[in-house]
Amino acid sequence: MSEDVVIARKAPYKVEMKAGEKYFWCACGRSATQPFCDGAHKAVGMRPVIVTADEDKTAWFCGCKHTAGRPFCDGTHGTL
Ligand code: FES
Repeated sequence: MSEDVVIARKAPYKVEMKAGEKYFWCACGRSATQPFCDGAHKAVGMRPVIVTADEDKTAWFCGCKHTAGRPFCDGTHGTL
C-alpha cells in the first residue's frame, strides 16, 4: 500500500449498489465525495478501484483506505 494513503474516516460508508453500475472507490483518501473518487488522486499518482455491482445490494465501502479487501470494509479500521 502506498504511504500516500490518508484515512478519510475510521468507519465504512454504506452504499446501496445497483446491478450493472460501476463504482469508483477513492483509494487515496483525498476525495471530497467519499467513498467515491473525485479526481483528487492525481496529486499523488494513485488511481481509484473500480467495481461493478453484480446485483442490487447494500455494501460497506472502506473509509479508512487500509482494507485488504478493496473497495470493501474488512474491519481493518478497528485496528488503526
Ligand atoms: S473502513 Fe477501512 S476496513 Fe473498515
